[in-house]
Parts: sequence; structure tokens; C-alpha cells
Amino acid sequence: MTQIELRGIEKHFGAVQVIKDLNLTIADNEFIVLLGQSGCGKTTTLRAIAGLETIDEGDILIDSQPVQHIKAAHRDIAFVFQSFSLYPHMTVFENIAFPLRATRGNRADIEREVQAVAKTLQITHLLVKKPSALSGGDMQRVAIGRALVRRPKAMLMDEPIGALDAKLREEMRAEIKRLHIKQGSTTIYVTHDQVEAMSLADRIVVMHEGVLQQVGSPHEVYARPANMFVAQFVGSPVMNMSDVTVSEDAGHARVVVRGAPTSFDFPSNLTAQLAVAGAQNGNLTLGVRPEGVLVSREAREGFVPVEAHIIEPLGSHDIIDLKVGDQMLRARTKSGFVPRPGEAVWARIDPAQAHFFDSSTGTSFGIRL
Ligand SMILES: Nc1ncnc2c1ncn2[C@@H]1O[C@H](COP(=O)(O)OP(=O)(O)O)[C@@H](O)[C@H]1O
Ligand SMILES: [Mg+2]
Repeated sequence: MTQIELRGIEKHFGAVQVIKDLNLTIADNEFIVLLGQSGCGKTTTLRAIAGLETIDEGDILIDSQPVQHIKAAHRDIAFVFQSFSLYPHMTVFENIAFPLRATRGNRADIEREVQAVAKTLQITHLLVKKPSALSGGDMQRVAIGRALVRRPKAMLMDEPIGALDAKLREEMRAEIKRLHIKQGSTTIYVTHDQVEAMSLADRIVVMHEGVLQQVGSPHEVYARPANMFVAQFVGSPVMNMSDVTVSEDAGHARVVVRGAPTSFDFPSNLTAQLAVAGAQNGNLTLGVRPEGVLVSREAREGFVPVEAHIIEPLGSHDIIDLKVGDQMLRARTKSGFVPRPGEAVWARIDPAQAHFFDSSTGTSFGIRL
């Protein structure tokens, strides 16, 4: 049972504030992913939890006990770094056994625990080898093994697979997930890769410039982004954003993209919802993911004519750019849907997949259609 709580954490390096009022409760057995750009404060947060970094303000509690006065070595938290940092002169067995040497003297116990961890990670055949003989993926398995063997209260992982190539990253991702399901330890995992975050996390914590932006399940963060930063950081290709004005016309709401002669049809309750949320024309941004832009080869009710431009064929589907006035709207279509660049097609924005943001603060108005 390990619950970790961060209360009002603040951290400066000199004059630069790198963590701002960070509050977060991580449940027992939860797999939390800290997601954000390089430099946003992820590593500093992890190091603070591990006790490798001091904090200026706030409290870190492990199982409801404040831990600031407890040294890293006594917090019983394992840390897996991006660099594998294995002892090169030791075998894999000795590397994994190393953390046990200090605490568990009995040879037979150490042997049994190392074997058990090696079996879980499927590296039994590597136990006699030296790190120099291992591939990148195997080195990282050993580093994870060395962290796991202590049966720590919690596992902290800082971009543990960032240095591996794409194929291996995918494999290791699945393995880390499987391992977590099997071991069930409270885990905080840091990455700048949104796909990694989506595939691993119970909950994702999105950070930007030291400020927590949103905490939620992968689905929540993807489907209900709290602000424009989260909306554009999660999901690929990136969410379309356009300044729009909304007006009411003959029982419909009309959404006009700035610089476009065309308007998109929306359900009439959009205007009322925007009014309740305090949204005003001139300060309104529409966000829609490429899959929320519906396209048709024929004219259809509610669809407007647009021109299909650059086409990215991706095999399973295509990404196309639609010219709407002087703006581009990126859409996702079945592969081969648009045969030639410059083709005339019809488009509509799926109201259920539309997001409306305050253009100046970036905050979502939380409109649901
Ligand atoms: N020991 C340090 N001294 C001074 N600045 C640091 C130190 N460690 C990190 N920083 C700065 O703090 C910010 C956050 O860094 P970090 O937590 O490593 O970000 P991330 O892991 O998200 O890339 C960065 O601007 C970084 O340059
Ligand atoms: Mg980092």
C-alpha cells in the first residue's frame, strides 16, 4: 500500500521557478505519467519525491507521512533513469543483486529474489553476461530489474525508454505495462512522448512550464482537454485551432472561421452554452481534431465545399489539408479518399468533437454538444 501526495510544491533554481504550486494525490498501485515538454519540471518533480532534490515550499507525503526529513536512501523508492547506469564490471546477476547486498545478507535469499525478478523480466538467460554484451532494451530490462528487486514502496521512472529506437520502445512499453499489472506497485513515469503516456497511464498529469495543466485518464485528457496547451500537446496530428465567431441564424448556430467565406452549421444550443460560459465573439477559438472534420465526396446537407490540398498517405488512413478561406483545416480520411491534390470535397465539423476555448487564456469553455 503506497499513496503519494504532493501538496503545494514550489521549487526554484536560483531566480527561476521550475515547479509552481503542484498538488497531486497518487493512489496505491496507480500508474501515473507526468507528461510535458523538455524543461517543464518533470525530472525535478521525480527527484523531489525520491529525496534527491529539496523543495522550497509544500509537503511530500508518502502514506500520509511527511518525508522531507527522510533521506533518499530511507524513502524506499526505486528510481529508473534514462541512462541505464549499470555497473560495467559486474554481471547482470550482480547488478540486479546489488541493492539487496546491503539489506539482505543471506545468499540463498538473494539468489531466489534475483531469479524471480529475472524470470518476470524474461532475462534469466542474461544473468551471467556483462552489460557491455547487452542490447539497449536488455540493459533497460536489467535496470528495471535492479529497481524491482528491492520491492520498493514506489517506482519512479524518468524517460526510461527514451533512448531506445522506435520499435523497441513499443515493445518495452507493452512490457512495462504488463509488469505493472503483475507487480502492481505505485508508479510515476515521466515522458515527453504523448503516445507513451496514453498507452501506459491510469492517469496522465500534463505539465507546462512548471504548472500542472490537467490530470485525467488518457481518454479524459484526449477528449476533454482543459485548455489549448493540453489540446495541442496530446494527439497527432495536432488539433486544428481557428479563431471563430458564432451567430444564430434560423434555428442553427453558425460558426464562421476567421478569413473564410463559409460558415459551419452547429446545433442551436451552442450559442446559449457559450453565453452561459461567458464566451464572447472576438475571443473565441474553435479546436477540432482531424478525425472531427468529416468529409464527403458529394455535396451533403450541412457540409460546405472546400478544396483538398496536401495529402499524407499513411497506409491505414490519409491526412489531408482542406483550404477554408485562408485557413487550413487538417482532416483524417480513409486512405485514397482524395485522389488528387486540389480536389473539391465537402466538409463539416462534428459538433460532438468540437472544443471552444477562450483565445486569450486558452481555457476550455467546456461546451458539450
Ligand atoms: N540543478 C539544476 N540547476 C539549475 N537549473 C536546473 C537544475 N535542474 C534542472 N534545472 C532547470 O529546471 C527546469 C526543469 O528541469 P527538469 O525538471 O529537468 O525538466 P524536464 O525533466 O521536464 O525536462 C529546466 O529549465 C532546467 O534547466
Ligand atoms: Mg527530464
